[in-house]
Amino acid sequence: MRTYLVTGGAGFIGSNYIHYMFRKYGDEIRIINVDALTYAGNLKNLKGVQERPNYTFVKADICDKETIQKIFEENDIDRVVHFAAETHVDRSITNPEVFVQTNVMGTAVLLNCARAAWEQPDGTYLNGKRFLHVSTDEVYGSLEEDGGYFYETTPYAPHSPYSASKASSDMLVKSYIDTYHFPANITNCSNNYGPYQFPEKLIPLIINNALHGRKLPVYGDGKNVRDWLYVDDHAKAIDMVQEKGRLGETYNIGGHNEKQNIEIIETILDTLQEMLPEGDERKKLVSRELITYVEDRKGHDRRYAIAPDKIKAEIGWEPETMFKEGIRKTIAWYFEHEEWMADVTSGDYQKYYEEMYEGK
Ligand code: NAD
Ligand code: TYD
Repeated sequence: MRTYLVTGGAGFIGSNYIHYMFRKYGDEIRIINVDALTYAGNLKNLKGVQERPNYTFVKADICDKETIQKIFEENDIDRVVHFAAETHVDRSITNPEVFVQTNVMGTAVLLNCARAAWEQPDGTYLNGKRFLHVSTDEVYGSLEEDGGYFYETTPYAPHSPYSASKASSDMLVKSYIDTYHFPANITNCSNNYGPYQFPEKLIPLIINNALHGRKLPVYGDGKNVRDWLYVDDHAKAIDMVQEKGRLGETYNIGGHNEKQNIEIIETILDTLQEMLPEGDERKKLVSRELITYVEDRKGHDRRYAIAPDKIKAEIGWEPETMFKEGIRKTIAWYFEHEEWMADVTSGDYQKYYEEMYEGK
């Protein structure tokens, strides 16, 4: 039975990954989920998983060396899948330091603990041990509107404190691969969407605001482009890279699904109208009149677009969920989880929203 140490498993992608892994492997694997439960972490994302005997939750900060070391000492960890991070670009612009702390220092702690547990006196590693560092396409910077893609060989050129901290963590992982032959892979994925995404990110924020008849804030001219991937396709790619990827390699993950922000917002509005039943009061609230152009994000990257050629050729991964289907599944999930949304948008979220959008 393989034992996985998943960090950040109470967040958006981490929780989807854990659900995916238990759906796929059932009782054949064991997962230990380490999460500090910051504002972005929510144990309600793991409903149905927490009762499993082959699942353990540890509330801890990945920067806490002693606790992480102890987890490695007390468990024979085969795989690390490292999601834990501060992830929201806007927050990184107002408060960069915590991004450096968690994303860079936290990654250093994990790398050191995994190396200490797995490296043998002759410098080789225990058989079958693998570390996967989950990263973003934002490390590559911004593309021109009219062409080009991010390849694994594209030079790093991060612009936001978030992407700079992720780039630093990627380089740290690369340094462990090069210096210690550490058994790791890095994946750089495009923007994800799907269930359990915190409504500070574009898609859930627009769904939630539209359903309440609130303004839909569009940064700048709304023509910035992101390359959207349904979260289950990302979970599958991570698993495939860990099982089939060449150690030491980086794999870009994305699905050639580029969309301007304004297109995304209009698609959400149209889909909400299609999916809301006749007579539902919210049908009257959902309207293009809510679209509000606001001040642009500082240093706003214009376009991201992944070339997923390497992962397709070497590993055979391809995205399975078309955007039209993925956005319907996502909206259906938010319809069915109104309580989840009410819960995560109470308290601190109100304060965050006012501070972030006030005056914009
Ligand atoms: P998220 O913000 O939803 O979740 C992050 C999780 O990490 C939360 O559960 C949080 O409690 C936990 N965490 C934060 N700081 C911690 C700390 N110091 N110690 C332990 N746990 C801590 O993020 P997400 O969108 O699920 O992203 C997960 C990973 O995927 C990140 O590394 C991110 O850079 C990467 N990524 C995200 C996207 C995307 O579109 N969301 C795309 C590509 C890559
Ligand atoms: P986001 O979901 O924050 O992801 P990222 O910045 O990591 O790509 O934002 C996606 C795009 O949507 C980005 O171009 C910024 C834009 N955006 C808005 O126009 N309005 C908003 O309220 C938010 C949160 C994002």
